[in-house]
Order: sequence, then structure tokens, then C-alpha cells
Amino acid sequence: MAIVKVTESDISEFTAAMNELCEYFAALSARKGRPLTFNLLTYGCQLNEADSEKLSGMLRQMGLESVGGSDDELVFADVVLMNTCSVRQNAEKHLFGNLGVFKTEKKQNSDSIIICCGCMMKVPENVERIQKSYPFVDLVFDPQQLHRFPVLLRDSIRSRRQLVNIGSIDYIAEDDFFPIDRQRRFRALVPIMYGCNNFCTYCIVPYARGRERSRNFDEIVRELESLAKQGYKEIMLLGQNVNSYGNGSEDGKTFADCLRACSDIKEFSRVRFMSSHPKDLSDEVIELMAERSNIEKHLHLAMQSGSDEVLRRMNRPYTIDDYMRIVDLFRQKVPDGSLTTDIIVGFPGETEKDFEDTLTAVKRAAFDAAFTFQYSVRPGTAAASFEPKVPKEVVTERFGRLVELQNALAYESNCRKVGRSEEVLIEGVSKAGRGTYSGRTMSNHLVNFTIPDSLMIKDQSDTLEGRLAVINIERARPYSVDGVMERIINE
Ligand code: SAM
Ligand code: SF4
Ligand code: F3S
Repeated sequence: MAIVKVTESDISEFTAAMNELCEYFAALSARKGRPLTFNLLTYGCQLNEADSEKLSGMLRQMGLESVGGSDDELVFADVVLMNTCSVRQNAEKHLFGNLGVFKTEKKQNSDSIIICCGCMMKVPENVERIQKSYPFVDLVFDPQQLHRFPVLLRDSIRSRRQLVNIGSIDYIAEDDFFPIDRQRRFRALVPIMYGCNNFCTYCIVPYARGRERSRNFDEIVRELESLAKQGYKEIMLLGQNVNSYGNGSEDGKTFADCLRACSDIKEFSRVRFMSSHPKDLSDEVIELMAERSNIEKHLHLAMQSGSDEVLRRMNRPYTIDDYMRIVDLFRQKVPDGSLTTDIIVGFPGETEKDFEDTLTAVKRAAFDAAFTFQYSVRPGTAAASFEPKVPKEVVTERFGRLVELQNALAYESNCRKVGRSEEVLIEGVSKAGRGTYSGRTMSNHLVNFTIPDSLMIKDQSDTLEGRLAVINIERARPYSVDGVMERIINE
């Protein structure tokens, strides 16, 4: 499949469509006598979140306001978008349930626009189902068409018929192409590469997101410098496998170069990255994590299974010994760091012995946290035809044992923080309750904390977001720690 850079003519088409849409929505707003709104529902990973920040940026530039709805509270709006995920079957369930709800609303508000986008749209069965059973959906497009969103929206409004546009070309648009509506004012998500070439046999992502393509190094650095000037403190470098950054590129730049360049910008107090693949995480990246004070001491490294045979059938080209070599290096070089992982239970053919190897590996690596998943068949992937499938009740039972073990390890990891003074980047008011704030340590541990009256900054939650503080950790919980603020760090 071809990888194509967005051209000058794409840019002028984009601008012309944006202008037309601004006029269209301004006229509609005048007719309705109120501002127009959009509701953007985002599912899946941070790459989808980064795409949604661009969709939201484009919609705001067209003159629409966000209603900020969520899945728990479905709010209808003049434009409703569902940016979907296809990684597991339960991630897919939301879309068709929500469409059922929006159908009635759309009948009463014929000017409204309903849009389905994201990874689910790369699965032909999903698109066919929308075409057949949900004709009121106005526009369907896939993640590789993001840079054409205004053009497609304009065309769907003009045609007044359902427009389905699923591309076959892997486009790459630098991020300054888009207006971006960043969700947190201290954190910027910066995708450095798109797509995936790994074709793990269970995974839909390479089909949904296309082939690997890396952004231009100088463009990334320009964006980072601009983010520093705008006051962002935390940078999240994103890609399905950031360590593949630059593969095959002419300038020879690697992920370690990106990480170093980002960490060189002193305005950033936290530099994070997601995700790494064990097959090509370089020792240089671990060295950088150890040396650089603003690179987060947190490595997310999906293990998937502790059995070499299962890893082989998953097309994960490393053995558990290879994986443990990285674990040992990370623990030695970054002693206060945290190591987190992804694990799949019940992959086809997984035996009790394979699963016990996973438990042994989990204990050996002593993960600080893990995302644990039950294998979900993804039609179109190689493993969909692998036999024998593990019976549901066996998967549930194994999953329970894994979660119990991992919860104990996560609690132990939190207990190790008790009694320490930790530097925390404040994220805002905590979900834990009134008067409590939350933030994350350098090792990405979640901290809920109170502020003593003597610090006299209690009501200034607005000014606290994105600032660094020293927190005394007093208590461990299963998924977080509690503490009290000692002082704000002046920058
Ligand atoms: N690229 C990342 C990596 O390799 O580390 C993973 C990205 S994927 C979106 C996140 C996780 O979803 C995977 O690491 C895997 O554990 C899980 N996953 C992917 N496909 C799955 C499936 N069919 N069933 C269950 N879990 C799945
Ligand atoms: Fe999926 Fe594997 Fe690519 Fe990660 S590396 S996105 S698990 S195919
Ligand atoms: Fe992410 Fe889901 Fe797509 S995990 S890449 S949004 S399939």
C-alpha cells in the first residue's frame, strides 16, 4: 500500500471546504437562533484521543461548540461523531447501541449530522451494517482520511445522502496541518508515527491503521518547540510501536533521537512515550530514561504471554528470556521506575502450562500495573482461524487468577511509595472527592492528595493544574496512593 504525504492541493482543498463549512454552519446557527454544538465520543487508545483532538479542533474552527458528552450521558448535538475502536469486541459494542439512541433524535432534528469514524470503519462488516441498518448516518470515514474530514463533511452535506469514504492509501499529514483542540492544557499528545507493521496474529490495528509511517523529525521538533512556548509541561510521544520510528527514513533518525530532542527542551517537566515493542526497544532508550531527569521513569512494555510457544503463535518475535533481559536492564538502570504491561489470557491453544508460565513471568517481572485482556476474536486476523479456542469458563477462571496476582503486585508497588516525598505533576481536582487533588509521580503512580491550609492555595485548583509539587505519601491503596502536599515547586 502506498504511503503518501499530504500535498499543497490537499491543503487548498481542506481550506476551501473549511471556509464553506464555516459559512454553512453560521447560516444554520442564525436560522436556529442559537450556537451550534457537537458531541464527539472517543473510544480506544491514545492515538484515537489524538485524532479526536484534531476533529474537535476542526469542528471548533467551523464555529461549533462542544457539549462535552460522554457514553454514560448521551447528549444529542447538531453534529454527533463517534470515533470508534475495534481492538476487542466489547470496544465495538458502544457504536450500535448509541446509534439506536441517536436514531430517534435525528428524526426530530433533520439538520443534525451523525458521523461514524475511527478504527471500526476499517472492518467491512461494520460499514455494511451501517449502510443496511442505519441509513440516517450521514458520513462514514476511516482514520487514514482524517486530513480530508472537512472535505468529506462538506460533500455529505451537499449530497444529503449517506457518504461512505474508506481509503486505500496511507496518508501522512504533519500535525501543524490541523487545528488541534488539546484536552489538557498542560499535556500534549504528539503522535510521531502512525500505523503498525507487526501483524501480531490477534490484532486488528495493522488493518485499521495501515502501514507504519513516521513523521518528519524536524517537523516534530518544530511542534515540540511551539508546545514549549505555549506552556505545555507534559509531552506524550505516541505510536503503536514508537521504537520503529524512522525505520527506512532517509535522515537516519531513531526514536532515541526523538526522545533526546524532546527531553532537551527544558520547559517540559515530563516526557512520556507509548508504546514500545520488546523486539526492538533499544538499550539506548533505557539509558536515556536513566540519565534524563525529565523523562518519565515508566516503561510500558507489552509482554502478552509468558509462554514462548504462545508468543510464537502470536507472532511476537521474542522469547520470555529476551523479555526478562529488558526487565532486568530496566530495573537495574531505573531502580525507582515502574514497569507496566499488557497480557492476553485465553489465546487459541493456550494450555494450563502456558498460562502458568504467564503467572511465573508476571511474578518474576513484578509489574507495577498491567492491562489484562481476555482474548477476543477479531475477524480478518490470522488467529481468528486458530484452533482450539479456549472455552469461555476456562478463560474466565484463568483471568481471575491473573488479576488477583497482578492486584497484589500493584498494591505492593504502591506500598513501596509510602513514607516517601515524591515529585508529582498535578492534574487537577481528584475524582476521589472534594478537597482532594490528583497527580502522577515520575514513575506514573496515581497520587490523591490534600493541601494543608497553611499552604494557602486550596481554592486555586485552576492555577495548580500542570504544576509540580512535593507530596508526602502516607497510605497505599490498590490502584493509587494518598498523600499530603508539602510544597509547590517553583519553576
Ligand atoms: N502496539 C501496542 C503494543 O504492541 O504494545 C499495543 C496496542 S493494542 C491497541 C493494546 C493491547 O490490546 C495489546 O497489547 C493487546 O494486549 C490487546 N489486544 C489487542 N488485540 C486483542 C485481542 N484480539 N484480544 C484481546 N486483547 C487484544
Ligand atoms: Fe497490534 Fe502487535 Fe501492532 Fe501492537 S505491535 S498494534 S499488538 S499488531
Ligand atoms: Fe487504538 Fe482501538 Fe484503533 S486501540 S488504534 S483505537 S483499534
